[in-house]
Amino acid sequence: MRIATIGKPGSGKGTQAEVLARKLRVPAISLGEILRKRSLKNDKTGKYIRSRIDKGSFISDRLAFKILSERLEKKDCKKGYILDGFPRNLAQAKMAKDIGTAIEIKVPDSLIIRRISNRRECPKCCRTYNMLTQKPKKDEICDKCKTRLGRRKDDSPNFVKKRLAIYRKKTAPLIAYYRKQGKLVSVDGAGTVSVVFSRIMRALK
Ligand code: AP5
Ligand code: MG
Repeated sequence: MRIATIGKPGSGKGTQAEVLARKLRVPAISLGEILRKRSLKNDKTGKYIRSRIDKGSFISDRLAFKILSERLEKKDCKKGYILDGFPRNLAQAKMAKDIGTAIEIKVPDSLIIRRISNRRECPKCCRTYNMLTQKPKKDEICDKCKTRLGRRKDDSPNFVKKRLAIYRKKTAPLIAYYRKQGKLVSVDGAGTVSVVFSRIMRALK
């Protein structure tokens, strides 16, 4: 059970990976989240990662794979995992040979902009909210760790445009790559979290 989610920024990769992971009892691994946490460390690697992700650019394939591999070596990944954010280009897909299924979450750009502009994230535990669709219980405070929610730097409109352009150029070719191998499952990502999740479960069966 080694599954990867593929989709535009804000398409719901992280949200669906979490739900699917709970259902399948394997960990959801968000490389973006691991990198945001790693970027808080003020060493050379931390500064490099921060300089890339805050502007919506990828970090190097080698470092991305190294950081991901360290996480996949942990015991909880033995039975499988749901990857969110890896692979993001063909070079990375060749590194991630173990992936058995790639789930493409299809969402139009107009909905992406709406979702991202309403996204909030806990700077401490990285839990994601949406002020329209997945509100915290108390105004802009994390339900889990009670920290004030913030916005990701790369969620500003200019960087979202840039991330969408990078997605089209670098990540979208993975759809044909996995389709050719018979590993692709595509679902419509518009609709509520539970509706999209039902589509994923149906497509996996
Ligand atoms: P990452 O954090 O993965 O960013 P991303 O790919 O741009 O995707 P997002 O996290 O923005 O969106 P998502 O698809 O997870 O959507 P979400 O579930 O939050 O990566 C960040 C950066 O790290 C990259 O730009 C790069 O710099 C670096 N990086 C990461 N991986 C790398 C790699 N492999 N190589 C090199 N660099 C790498 O949903 C969005 C919002 O909508 C939320 O508010 C959510 O609550 C809401 N929502 C979700 N689903 C629904 C729904 N069905 N209905 C209504 N609202 C919904
Ligand atoms: Mg995410």
